[in-house]
Amino acid sequence: MLNVVIFGPPGSGKGTQSEQIIDYFGLGHISTGDILRAEIKEGTELGKIAASFIDRGELVPDATIIGMLENKLNALKSSKGVIFDGFPRTVAQAEALKEMLAKRGESIDVMLNLEVERQELIARLLKRGETSGRSDDNLETIEKRIGVYEAQTAPVIDFYKSEGSYHGIRGVGSVSEIFERIKEAISACAA
Ligand code: C5P
Ligand code: MG
Repeated sequence: MLNVVIFGPPGSGKGTQSEQIIDYFGLGHISTGDILRAEIKEGTELGKIAASFIDRGELVPDATIIGMLENKLNALKSSKGVIFDGFPRTVAQAEALKEMLAKRGESIDVMLNLEVERQELIARLLKRGETSGRSDDNLETIEKRIGVYEAQTAPVIDFYKSEGSYHGIRGVGSVSEIFERIKEAISACAA
Protein backbone atom coordinates (compact mmCIF):
# COMPACT_ATOMS: atom_id res chain seq x y z
CA MET A 1 0.00 0.00 0.00
CA LEU A 2 1.00 3.61 -0.58
CA ASN A 3 0.02 5.89 2.28
CA VAL A 4 0.53 9.61 1.78
CA VAL A 5 0.00 12.60 4.05
CA ILE A 6 -0.59 15.83 2.15
CA PHE A 7 0.29 18.67 4.45
CA GLY A 8 0.54 22.45 4.43
CA PRO A 9 -1.11 25.63 5.68
CA PRO A 10 -4.68 26.55 4.71
CA GLY A 11 -4.76 27.50 1.02
CA SER A 12 -1.58 25.62 0.12
CA GLY A 13 -3.43 23.38 -2.38
CA LYS A 14 -3.90 20.14 -0.41
CA GLY A 15 -7.35 19.40 -1.82
CA THR A 16 -6.38 20.32 -5.40
CA GLN A 17 -3.24 18.18 -5.38
CA SER A 18 -5.08 15.32 -3.63
CA GLU A 19 -7.35 15.06 -6.68
CA GLN A 20 -4.30 14.75 -8.97
CA ILE A 21 -2.67 12.13 -6.74
CA ILE A 22 -5.90 10.09 -6.50
CA ASP A 23 -6.35 10.05 -10.30
CA TYR A 24 -2.74 9.12 -10.99
CA PHE A 25 -1.96 6.67 -8.17
CA GLY A 26 -5.49 5.29 -7.58
CA LEU A 27 -5.53 5.98 -3.85
CA GLY A 28 -8.46 6.32 -1.46
CA HIS A 29 -9.02 9.84 -0.09
CA ILE A 30 -9.63 10.90 3.49
CA SER A 31 -10.24 14.65 3.79
CA THR A 32 -11.16 15.37 7.39
CA GLY A 33 -12.35 18.89 6.45
CA ASP A 34 -14.72 17.46 3.80
CA ILE A 35 -16.04 14.87 6.27
CA LEU A 36 -16.71 17.57 8.88
CA ARG A 37 -18.47 19.81 6.34
CA ALA A 38 -20.67 16.86 5.26
CA GLU A 39 -21.59 16.20 8.91
CA ILE A 40 -22.53 19.87 9.32
CA LYS A 41 -24.70 19.74 6.21
CA GLU A 42 -26.51 16.65 7.51
CA GLY A 43 -27.03 18.30 10.89
CA THR A 44 -25.51 15.40 12.88
CA GLU A 45 -24.30 15.67 16.49
CA LEU A 46 -20.70 15.62 15.25
CA GLY A 47 -21.59 18.33 12.75
CA LYS A 48 -22.97 20.56 15.49
CA ILE A 49 -19.78 20.21 17.52
CA ALA A 50 -17.58 20.74 14.46
CA ALA A 51 -19.39 23.86 13.24
CA SER A 52 -18.58 25.82 16.37
CA PHE A 53 -14.85 25.21 15.86
CA ILE A 54 -14.74 25.61 12.08
CA ASP A 55 -16.62 28.92 12.13
CA ARG A 56 -14.00 30.29 14.54
CA GLY A 57 -11.08 28.88 12.55
CA GLU A 58 -10.12 26.60 15.44
CA LEU A 59 -9.35 22.89 15.53
CA VAL A 60 -11.91 20.25 16.50
CA PRO A 61 -10.54 18.37 19.58
CA ASP A 62 -8.10 15.52 18.86
CA ALA A 63 -10.28 12.75 20.36
CA THR A 64 -13.21 13.65 18.08
CA ILE A 65 -11.05 13.79 14.96
CA ILE A 66 -9.15 10.59 15.77
CA GLY A 67 -12.39 8.62 16.38
CA MET A 68 -13.82 9.89 13.10
CA LEU A 69 -10.67 8.90 11.25
CA GLU A 70 -10.64 5.35 12.60
CA ASN A 71 -14.15 4.79 11.16
CA LYS A 72 -13.06 6.06 7.75
CA LEU A 73 -9.92 3.96 7.73
CA ASN A 74 -11.94 0.80 8.36
CA ALA A 75 -14.14 1.66 5.38
CA LEU A 76 -11.09 1.93 3.08
CA LYS A 77 -9.50 -1.40 4.08
CA SER A 78 -9.18 -2.80 0.58
CA SER A 79 -7.81 0.28 -1.24
CA LYS A 80 -4.33 0.52 -2.82
CA GLY A 81 -3.42 3.10 -0.24
CA VAL A 82 -4.76 6.28 1.28
CA ILE A 83 -4.09 9.97 0.96
CA PHE A 84 -4.65 11.84 4.21
CA ASP A 85 -5.71 15.43 3.45
CA GLY A 86 -6.00 17.96 6.26
CA PHE A 87 -4.98 15.36 8.85
CA PRO A 88 -2.92 15.11 11.04
CA ARG A 89 -3.38 18.71 12.28
CA THR A 90 -1.53 18.17 15.59
CA VAL A 91 1.37 16.02 16.83
CA ALA A 92 -1.14 14.01 18.91
CA GLN A 93 -3.07 13.22 15.71
CA ALA A 94 0.17 12.21 13.95
CA GLU A 95 1.03 9.84 16.80
CA ALA A 96 -2.50 8.36 16.77
CA LEU A 97 -2.33 7.85 13.00
CA LYS A 98 1.00 6.07 13.32
CA GLU A 99 -0.51 3.72 15.91
CA MET A 100 -3.70 3.09 13.90
CA LEU A 101 -1.68 2.19 10.80
CA ALA A 102 0.79 0.04 12.75
CA LYS A 103 -2.13 -2.07 14.04
CA ARG A 104 -2.91 -2.79 10.37
CA GLY A 105 0.73 -3.52 9.48
CA GLU A 106 0.93 -0.19 7.62
CA SER A 107 2.75 3.11 7.89
CA ILE A 108 2.98 6.52 6.22
CA ASP A 109 5.31 6.21 3.22
CA VAL A 110 5.59 9.88 2.43
CA MET A 111 4.61 13.22 3.91
CA LEU A 112 4.39 16.05 1.37
CA ASN A 113 4.63 19.56 2.81
CA LEU A 114 3.27 22.16 0.36
CA GLU A 115 5.29 25.33 0.96
CA VAL A 116 3.49 28.60 0.14
CA GLU A 117 4.12 32.06 1.62
CA ARG A 118 1.52 33.81 3.76
CA GLN A 119 0.47 36.59 1.34
CA GLU A 120 -0.20 34.02 -1.39
CA LEU A 121 -2.26 31.86 1.02
CA ILE A 122 -4.44 34.81 1.99
CA ALA A 123 -4.96 35.85 -1.65
CA ARG A 124 -5.91 32.29 -2.68
CA LEU A 125 -8.37 31.80 0.19
CA LEU A 126 -10.06 35.18 -0.36
CA LYS A 127 -10.48 34.24 -4.02
CA ARG A 128 -11.86 30.81 -3.08
CA GLY A 129 -14.25 32.53 -0.63
CA GLU A 130 -15.96 34.29 -3.54
CA THR A 131 -17.42 30.95 -4.67
CA SER A 132 -16.77 28.27 -2.00
CA GLY A 133 -19.63 29.19 0.30
CA ARG A 134 -17.31 28.17 3.18
CA SER A 135 -18.02 29.93 6.46
CA ASP A 136 -14.27 30.14 7.18
CA ASP A 137 -13.04 31.68 3.89
CA ASN A 138 -13.21 35.31 5.07
CA LEU A 139 -10.23 37.53 5.99
CA GLU A 140 -10.69 37.41 9.77
CA THR A 141 -11.07 33.61 9.90
CA ILE A 142 -8.33 33.06 7.32
CA GLU A 143 -5.84 34.96 9.51
CA LYS A 144 -7.00 32.99 12.55
CA ARG A 145 -6.57 29.68 10.67
CA ILE A 146 -3.03 30.58 9.60
CA GLY A 147 -2.19 31.45 13.22
CA VAL A 148 -3.64 28.12 14.43
CA TYR A 149 -1.63 26.36 11.73
CA GLU A 150 1.62 28.00 12.90
CA ALA A 151 0.98 27.27 16.59
CA GLN A 152 -0.60 23.80 16.54
CA THR A 153 -0.03 22.21 13.14
CA ALA A 154 3.48 23.24 12.01
CA PRO A 155 5.11 21.08 14.77
CA VAL A 156 3.86 18.04 12.80
CA ILE A 157 6.69 18.81 10.31
CA ASP A 158 9.33 17.80 12.87
CA PHE A 159 7.40 14.62 13.69
CA TYR A 160 7.65 13.42 10.07
CA LYS A 161 11.24 14.63 9.72
CA SER A 162 12.18 12.32 12.57
CA GLU A 163 10.14 9.52 10.97
CA GLY A 164 12.18 9.99 7.77
CA SER A 165 9.15 10.43 5.49
CA TYR A 166 9.21 14.24 5.13
CA HIS A 167 9.37 15.90 1.70
CA GLY A 168 9.13 19.67 1.17
CA ILE A 169 7.34 20.60 -2.07
CA ARG A 170 7.30 24.11 -3.51
CA GLY A 171 3.57 24.80 -3.67
CA VAL A 172 3.70 27.78 -6.06
CA GLY A 173 3.18 27.41 -9.82
CA SER A 174 0.54 25.77 -11.99
CA VAL A 175 -1.41 22.76 -10.71
CA SER A 176 0.46 20.49 -13.15
CA GLU A 177 3.91 21.92 -12.29
CA ILE A 178 3.31 21.28 -8.61
CA PHE A 179 1.97 17.80 -9.35
CA GLU A 180 5.18 16.97 -11.29
CA ARG A 181 7.19 17.79 -8.12
CA ILE A 182 4.86 15.56 -6.10
CA LYS A 183 5.16 12.65 -8.54
CA GLU A 184 8.94 12.84 -8.30
CA ALA A 185 8.85 12.78 -4.50
CA ILE A 186 6.39 9.85 -4.38
CA SER A 187 8.28 7.86 -7.03
CA ALA A 188 11.57 8.37 -5.17
CA CYS A 189 10.19 6.88 -1.97
CA ALA A 190 7.98 4.18 -3.50
CA ALA A 191 10.85 2.84 -5.65
O1 C5P B 1 -8.73 20.78 6.00
P1 C5P B 1 -9.67 21.92 5.85
O2 C5P B 1 -9.00 23.22 5.53
O3 C5P B 1 -10.80 21.63 4.93
O4 C5P B 1 -10.30 22.15 7.29
C1 C5P B 1 -11.25 23.19 7.54
C2 C5P B 1 -11.48 23.33 9.04
O5 C5P B 1 -11.93 22.08 9.57
C3 C5P B 1 -10.26 23.67 9.86
O6 C5P B 1 -9.98 25.06 9.85
C4 C5P B 1 -10.69 23.19 11.23
O7 C5P B 1 -11.60 24.08 11.83
C5 C5P B 1 -11.43 21.91 10.90
N1 C5P B 1 -10.55 20.72 10.95
C6 C5P B 1 -10.13 20.29 12.19
N2 C5P B 1 -9.29 19.20 12.30
C7 C5P B 1 -8.89 18.54 11.19
C8 C5P B 1 -9.30 18.99 9.91
C9 C5P B 1 -10.13 20.10 9.83
O8 C5P B 1 -10.47 20.86 13.21
N3 C5P B 1 -8.08 17.46 11.31
MG1 MG C 1 -9.04 21.07 1.84
